[in-house]
Amino acid sequence: MKSPTDSNPVIRKVAEKDVSSAVAIAGHPIHAMAVHFPIALAIATLGADVFYWWSADPFWARVGLWSIGFAFATGVAAGLVGTAELLLVPGIRARAASWTHAIAAMMFLSICGMNFVLRLVEPDAVLPLGLALSGLGAVFTGLAGWHGGKLILHHGVGIMVSDQE
Ligand code: HEM
Repeated sequence: MKSPTDSNPVIRKVAEKDVSSAVAIAGHPIHAMAVHFPIALAIATLGADVFYWWSADPFWARVGLWSIGFAFATGVAAGLVGTAELLLVPGIRARAASWTHAIAAMMFLSICGMNFVLRLVEPDAVLPLGLALSGLGAVFTGLAGWHGGKLILHHGVGIMVSDQE
């Protein structure tokens, strides 16, 4: 059976371009290693907010402040590496899926930044606004992560196939 790559000249042209990671350590893309931190910390913030809502213990509000702060900082660091991949690698740049992922990721980072600054200037705003932002952040983590995973699993971006056994 013919694949779309055989028949569609646009897809064929995109498929010819290199998709190897430009920012990697011994073949391991740094972006893929770094994204676990913002993802886990954003979900942890949602958990801390729910516990704060449930218990009214200010400990959970402090946990939320630290976790969203580090979600934002590690997310910006991971985003910078991802942006370098996007701009430097022709096969990544040429794929619409890369830009979809980048937009979802930028939305995620904006929500994290807003959620962090809100708690810094107004610690009492965890309920309900902080919790709502954490929920929205968790949704965008999912969207960004899903589209990032698609880049690797469906488009083969960043995968280095070794010729050794
Ligand atoms: C803001 C700009 C960003 C750009 C341009 C970008 C770009 C990329 C690229 C090119 C890949 C393919 C792997 C590679 O070449 O390293 C990727 C994978 C991925 N990205 Fe991003 N990224 C960005 C931010 C983020 C953020 C903030 C997150 C966290 C939610 C994220 C989550 C992921 C995930 C989960 C993968 C798949 C990793 C794997 O399955 O091992 N990205 N991204």
